[in-house]
Amino acid sequence: METKQSVVVDQWNRPLRDLRISVTDQCNFRCVYCMPAEIFGPNFRFLREDELLTIEEMALLAESFAELGVEKIRITGGEPLLRRDLDVFIERLTRIPGIRDIGLTTNGIHLVKWAKRLKEAGLKRVNVSLDALDDEVFKKMNGVGVGVKPVLKGIEAAVEAGLGVKVNMVVKKGMNDSQIIPMASYFKERGITLRFIEFMDVGTTNGWDFSYVVTKKEMYELLQQMHPLEPVEKAYFGEVASRYRYVGTNVEVGFIASVTESFCRSCTRARISADGTLYTCLFATSGVSLKEKLRSGADKEEIKHVIASTWHLRTDRYSDERTEQTAKTRKKIEMSYIGG
Ligand code: GTP
Ligand code: 5AD
Ligand code: SF4
Ligand code: SF4
Repeated sequence: METKQSVVVDQWNRPLRDLRISVTDQCNFRCVYCMPAEIFGPNFRFLREDELLTIEEMALLAESFAELGVEKIRITGGEPLLRRDLDVFIERLTRIPGIRDIGLTTNGIHLVKWAKRLKEAGLKRVNVSLDALDDEVFKKMNGVGVGVKPVLKGIEAAVEAGLGVKVNMVVKKGMNDSQIIPMASYFKERGITLRFIEFMDVGTTNGWDFSYVVTKKEMYELLQQMHPLEPVEKAYFGEVASRYRYVGTNVEVGFIASVTESFCRSCTRARISADGTLYTCLFATSGVSLKEKLRSGADKEEIKHVIASTWHLRTDRYSDERTEQTAKTRKKIEMSYIGG
């Protein structure tokens, strides 16, 4: 039950509730659906240190968003654990009134090193991306030849540290659909929620085509054969995943069906990219540079004004309106930069 009244709503009456902050555009993986190695090669220019927001700047923005109704913050990237001082940032976030949930989306490689410290700093949950259990399939998916073991170890470390853990699996037809059942069995046995994600047309470099999408319906039907599922009520307005439970257990499994069952109607998410630009949709083509405002001396009230007026004008519902044409030709921002 929501009790807090948001101050600002958009043109479709959607409140501003969640903030996703991308803390770096760099990653140690080159997942085929996100940062294909042919594009993100040795000559790709990533943001320089001074182009990234500082911890102080990100904290001030988070405070501004919280004062406008944001309750949940998710730290993303690129790979957020490549950023130093992430624990300091999380500690800062925990002190912001109104923020009741802080999560992190990661490829898990550095969790063995970080999980305990991040939990102590106040992190509540991690979503770990893992697209296969088979080493060969996973190596192809992540583009850098890393096997599954370090990720599984990272997941274990997060569970041991007392963090809430979910696993994200992006399914790309012909690449890792063979892994749907093995992944489901593995995480069901361990009581960890696995979410199957439809391959999305984020950015312009991942070669998206509908023929590569394994739909939620297809995945659901496959899973039902292994184990009957029952639906679970949405936990809150704007939840991205459709959740199910394996009948007779407490173990959940989810589907994120942005392509075939879009959820724009309840989308309450704002995004800040690694270079401090505010975007009101994952598939946006342009945004508002909050970094420029901050660095030209804007105070918190001015920043809040910019955020509120941008949100107020928001009409985005890309996934509701997606067509073959928009998917292939619209100049969208890359996933690693906008933060997923
Ligand atoms: P929870 O708070 O744990 O539910 O996190 P989350 O699922 O919102 O975040 P996560 O970073 O784990 O994202 C899972 C998948 O959902 C990724 O593929 C994201 O790109 C996708 N996703 C998250 N928010 C949106 C959104 O607003 N629109 C679309 N189309 N996809 C989204
Ligand atoms: N389609 C769907 N999900 C994607 N992710 C990255 N790129 C895509 C895509 N093209 C997922 C990652 C991670 C989350 C932030 O977004 O696997 O779990
Ligand atoms: Fe890196 Fe995550 Fe993108 Fe894979 S999906 S390349 S792990 S940011
Ligand atoms: Fe929100 Fe845009 Fe995703 Fe729709 S496509 S749910 S508006 S981020």
